[in-house]
Amino acid sequence: MCGIVAVTGYRNALPLLINGLEKLEYRGYDSAGIAIVNPEENNLICNKSEGKLIKLKNNLSQQEIIGTVGIGHTRWATHGKPEVKNAHPHLDSTGKVAVVQNGIIENFLDLRNKLEQEGVSFQSDTDTEVIPHLIKKELNNLKKLNLEDNGSTLLVAVRNVIADLEGTYALAVLWADAPDSLVVARRQAPLIIGLGEGEFICASDTPAIANLTQTILPMEDEEIGLLTPLGIELYDSNNERQYRNPTSLKCSEQVVDKMNFRHYMHKEIYEQPSLTKNWIEKYLTRNNDSNNIRVNYSFDTNFLEDIERIQILACGTSRHASMVGSYLLEQFSGVPTDVFYASEFRYSPPPVLPNTLTIGVTQSGETADTLAALSMEIKRRESLENKLCKPNLIAITNRLDSSIGRQIPNIIDISAGIEIGVAATKTFFGQLLSFYGLAITFAQIKQSKTDNEINKLISSLENLPSLLEDLVIQHNEISEKLAHEFSEIKDVIFLGRGINYPIALEGALKLKEISYIHAAGYPAGEMKHGPIALLEKKVPVISIATPGKVFEKVISNAQEAKARDSYLIGIAPKCEGTEIFDYLMPLPTADEWLSPLLAVIPLQLLSYHIAAHRGLDVDQPRNLAKSVTVE
Ligand code: AGP
Repeated sequence: MCGIVAVTGYRNALPLLINGLEKLEYRGYDSAGIAIVNPEENNLICNKSEGKLIKLKNNLSQQEIIGTVGIGHTRWATHGKPEVKNAHPHLDSTGKVAVVQNGIIENFLDLRNKLEQEGVSFQSDTDTEVIPHLIKKELNNLKKLNLEDNGSTLLVAVRNVIADLEGTYALAVLWADAPDSLVVARRQAPLIIGLGEGEFICASDTPAIANLTQTILPMEDEEIGLLTPLGIELYDSNNERQYRNPTSLKCSEQVVDKMNFRHYMHKEIYEQPSLTKNWIEKYLTRNNDSNNIRVNYSFDTNFLEDIERIQILACGTSRHASMVGSYLLEQFSGVPTDVFYASEFRYSPPPVLPNTLTIGVTQSGETADTLAALSMEIKRRESLENKLCKPNLIAITNRLDSSIGRQIPNIIDISAGIEIGVAATKTFFGQLLSFYGLAITFAQIKQSKTDNEINKLISSLENLPSLLEDLVIQHNEISEKLAHEFSEIKDVIFLGRGINYPIALEGALKLKEISYIHAAGYPAGEMKHGPIALLEKKVPVISIATPGKVFEKVISNAQEAKARDSYLIGIAPKCEGTEIFDYLMPLPTADEWLSPLLAVIPLQLLSYHIAAHRGLDVDQPRNLAKSVTVE
């Protein structure tokens, strides 16, 4: 997490930095700061503030800061509370070296202890602060060598320092004595260089660059670079100079407007019907023979024919979408599928089995746990002799320009449009649709279902946009009213079974994330094995009961909750059995396979209205970040 941006060129750096930081605030908003070289005074001007970027902007509005080289940071706290002293940039004790960092320096305590023994005094509780002190020390040592120029000296100093760092980082470094230069480096945290005319910008993500240039050079892992207005020097970890062609941004910066909505999250929930329509147009092609429908991918799918099992790696909401995916791939397409928390898979992967497809699911394409789990899986499979065990990979993402987009050739693009609300809604929906597409493809390959059954699912998907349009409008009104009932509520239980168990988990996650109400999702049949002890009048139970395989079972489980005095809310069609609910959030009657796509809408809207009713910061909830780039 954390967003970093750095510029060198001929224009005033401050507006470029602020513009970049605005685009990166989704990566963290605990504090923000900038440092700019003041060439006239041979020093750095540094300004930081606690909280969101707007505070920093207000601070800076009173000041005129002239300088063309600078770095900026928006923070998601890992080491040290979200206070000004822990905000980046961090400086060395002379105030001449400034560093912004994304990632975690795992051996910072050892390094800090050593520096303190040498008399260095620290101003913050962060892991980052060791870096400027170490760089300064290194610069003092290098002075004796009389290197070509100060930019090169800074490059060497940073290179020597990062050799001693353990953990992950994306760094940008300034030194007042090298007034045109910036040094940037990365290890397992993204950093992209944008190439303008006579100016360069380097940032954690492309939206911070798109305003300035469409030409980019994503840095490879372990690379370090020296940027001046005259050019870039890039080196790999062996200190070999790297030359490669820049590429163009895959998507231009999308204009993201709140329209008439109070919050982005609300708008993004409303976008789900139209994104479904776009998805159908993009992915479902009807050949001349209207019975022959194929899902369109941007890659050759021949390799899927040999696949015998699937493993999916994901975190958070992406994992919930993957669980629905796993249900579809097993129950509809007949392919054994496992879903793993990416963070767990990395350290306890299952034994390698042949003909396995690994799917990485991440809307941002930058989640460190998912990227690391995928890399680990690729490495362990590539090291094997057995060809059948080689990696077969697909990534499902909303960001083609992300690390996963660059790493994995077989990409399923969610195409949901940029999502600003930290709580994922429309990208979850896009991930679900991607899994419906994959399930159809595999069902066709494995012939696990008849053509009629497959076509029935496709037709149901094609009818979805109009159902969704009505559903969003209807449930917006219902949820807004119902939200008032949750003013005093502290715990909520979500129940679902089968294909809707992951939707119960997602409903609980949404509520926790934005309303700070404790919520837990359970498979409805598990309640009686323990969680039922939590139930009482003040603990509402929200139960997803859609007609199909387990409908009666879910209704019986709901009865058990009702017998314990819980207020029972049903996400269900109005039909026999659902009269037991104290309050019904009605769903249209639809094919059971499609039910997750319907059931999730009332849950998203209810969470949204509960949080909005409480006056909370729905789009940027406390302690969270849109993209989790630390382990
Ligand atoms: C979603 O509401 C959450 N903010 C979070 O769980 C998120 O889904 C998770 O961090 C994974 O993100 P990704 O899809 O970008 O990998």
